[in-house]
Amino acid sequence: MSGFSVAWLDLRERADNAARDKALAAQALSWLTADEAAMPIIVDLGSGTGSTLRALSLVGASPARDSPRSPDGDLVWRLVDHNPALLNEALRRHGKTHVIEDHEADLLDLATLPLTGARLVTASALFDLVSLSVVDALTARLVQHRAGLYAALNYDGTTTWTPPHPLDGHVLAAFNQDQRKDKGLGLALGPDAGDYLQMALTRAGYTIWVADSPWTLGPADAALVRELIPGIANAVAEGYGLDTHALQEWKDFRMAHAATGRCVVGHQDVLALPTT
Ligand SMILES: C[S@@+](CC[C@H](N)C(=O)[O-])C[C@H]1O[C@@H](n2cnc3c(N)ncnc32)[C@H](O)[C@@H]1O
Repeated sequence: MSGFSVAWLDLRERADNAARDKALAAQALSWLTADEAAMPIIVDLGSGTGSTLRALSLVGASPARDSPRSPDGDLVWRLVDHNPALLNEALRRHGKTHVIEDHEADLLDLATLPLTGARLVTASALFDLVSLSVVDALTARLVQHRAGLYAALNYDGTTTWTPPHPLDGHVLAAFNQDQRKDKGLGLALGPDAGDYLQMALTRAGYTIWVADSPWTLGPADAALVRELIPGIANAVAEGYGLDTHALQEWKDFRMAHAATGRCVVGHQDVLALPTT
């Protein structure tokens, strides 16, 4: 998969940050920093340009959070991605302020992922892209290292548009089917990612917390919505039985309302910690 540009990741980050459940993120940080004897290692899978690092740094800096550790300088961030351009951008943005180890690696090579010493593994907007067997293999490695998992922003299959359009339901059903196609990491879990993570990690003896983290997009997010709409329309254009003219009409309607309408895209955040 090569389709994630710095520009697209930047465009979605404001919505991601607003959506992320802050209590769950703070709980993940508390677990990470609870062992005061060690400098905690956090491994971010599919790190992109470092959005999880930025999000957890913000949560860690919140005055509401009661921890003796700074969220930045006292952590080792291992950023793992197969796209060197994204890793370089993460280093450019954070290399001077954070302790970063960048690892160019394919998440399919799970056995070689650098989890040694990790207390927490994180991922944002990743698990809906991966297959069931990637989750199973990662779970086995988490157990082996007694590491926690904080998996934020897993698409849950729901999207609600305002104003509504008669084709919304058909487009969503087709899009959710498309979300289950192989995106480079095996047949994708798509909307089932949150549920499957919970099941696999519960089975492995972890304690699970879950929170909804929907994108709630309004006029301030028009630029993101204007990218989202053609992305959805392209994904469902072929193979799902949607009439080409009807789909074009849906797209035109949605674009016409991009700056004034609303769109809620459901996600789930999952935190799984080893049961002590
Ligand atoms: C939706 S983006 C999320 C990026 C980042 N976590 C964020 O929230 O901005 C998915 C990320 O997974 C990475 N990725 C996709 N397939 C991968 C693979 N097979 N191995 C390693 N990284 C992969 C992409 O390069 C991209 O950075």
